[in-house]
Amino acid sequence: MGMFQLICFFCGGFSLKETSMGQKSGNNEIKEKYLGIIEGFSAIVMERFLKPWLRIKWIFNLSRLGQLSRSYAAVADAFYYQVIKERRELFQQEKEKNANQSAFEKLPNGGLDQDDPIDAPRRPAFLDTLLKTAEENPELTDQVIKDEVSLFMLAGHDTTAFTFAAFLYLIAKHPEHQQLVVDELHQVFGDSNRPCTSNDFAQLKYLDCCIKETLRMYTNTPLMLRSIPEDLQAGDFTLPKGVTVLLNVHAAHHNPDIYPDPESFKPERFLPENSIGRHPYAFVPFSAGPRNCIGQKFAMYELRVVLANLLRWFRFSVSDPSAPLETPTLLIVLKFKNGARLIVSRRSNIS
Ligand code: HEM
Repeated sequence: MGMFQLICFFCGGFSLKETSMGQKSGNNEIKEKYLGIIEGFSAIVMERFLKPWLRIKWIFNLSRLGQLSRSYAAVADAFYYQVIKERRELFQQEKEKNANQSAFEKLPNGGLDQDDPIDAPRRPAFLDTLLKTAEENPELTDQVIKDEVSLFMLAGHDTTAFTFAAFLYLIAKHPEHQQLVVDELHQVFGDSNRPCTSNDFAQLKYLDCCIKETLRMYTNTPLMLRSIPEDLQAGDFTLPKGVTVLLNVHAAHHNPDIYPDPESFKPERFLPENSIGRHPYAFVPFSAGPRNCIGQKFAMYELRVVLANLLRWFRFSVSDPSAPLETPTLLIVLKFKNGARLIVSRRSNIS
């Protein structure tokens, strides 16, 4: 199993399900089938992107890809409906347990987050919010909820999993930067085994720079589409109303005028003193504006916590540091075609 699949399985798939959807258990067979079809599904979307005739519905429906797409959709729907069913059952049980207090309000530890030393109120899972709203709002049918669940799971799964894999790959290729992150982690945690929490983020500055440099080098949503609702002046050009514009974020992130030597991994570019004067839209891995990534905060939180903990306990290296950098392929988001193979060893300071 390559690093991407491994991380996909543990982090992308389940942490999202357990946090956004509030789900821990579940039917493993349905879960595994779901994780198995995501790549195939993405490949079909890309095929339709590159072959315009497949965007004509009836042609697509008659094609082999159309057939495959329907079978994948059935697997995905079974998974999403299972997530909703399990959560609804739990929601009802908790409601019945305490008629005066809804499951939405009945939160563990009296509403405080058990893992976080700050007494921050624990937020209800995204799916709980939808289920609670659906009780008073019949338009929010199971199908609408399923569509929301699928959007979140699809948008949040491969993006985060690829960023984990890309970060570990880059840091393995650049042991000098890995050491700087490890030194920073040692300053913050010393020999303590306590988990990393959001309270530590302000001190994990170099880790943040490495995450940002990963998102710059391997911008995992490199192309974005926008339709233009009215004539738009862009420099010397007028973009006419009705056209679709393809935004090449990868190109912006590799513009040598903004990022000198753009193909090199240089996390220090993102230190505050080196970012002065850089346009805020020169770095937009989560897009920008009203349709930017709704999961940005969650993704950054997850990346910091998981990567900080991984680097505290494990060392990542590659068998041939001089080999050229892996070029990922585009399957809606980026993926390493042949995986990113790493050597993982336990750090000696850990008992
Ligand atoms: C490293 C991780 C992630 C990256 C780089 C990323 C990137 C993006 C980008 C660039 C977009 C805008 C796409 C466009 O404009 O066409 C987007 C949209 C979106 N993302 Fe993320 N994302 C990440 C993680 C997540 C996570 C963890 C979630 C959910 C928990 C999520 C949920 C969404 C949703 C729902 C949208 C659609 C928003 C809308 O259309 O209004 N993303 N993401």
